[in-house]
Amino acid sequence: MITIFIADSDGDPKELAAPCNLNLSLMEMLRAAGYTIPATCGGIALCATCRVQVLKGAERLPAAGDQELDMLDTLPDTDSSSRLACQLRISPEMDGMIFRLVPTAN
Ligand code: FES
Repeated sequence: MITIFIADSDGDPKELAAPCNLNLSLMEMLRAAGYTIPATCGGIALCATCRVQVLKGAERLPAAGDQELDMLDTLPDTDSSSRLACQLRISPEMDGMIFRLVPTAN
């Protein structure tokens, strides 16, 4: 288990314990924890409803793939901290990272 922190519109980041051995994406983990993420594309980097901003630990994540970058490029307000949670696998390297939910209507 690792601990990540999730900031949403309620303010301070909240702690979330996440298992590393289930091959879950961050999007799946967040939905399982009760966060409202439509994930209308089913997790294939086509809807951006799972967009997050990485507030701490971005350097520990694998680089975004072409499909993720292509999707992020279509959005008007992304920056280098933007990622798609469906493209991030929960891993030990994520322990202590902080993410902010950035809902994208789609
Ligand atoms: S769930 Fe659609 S882009 Fe992540």
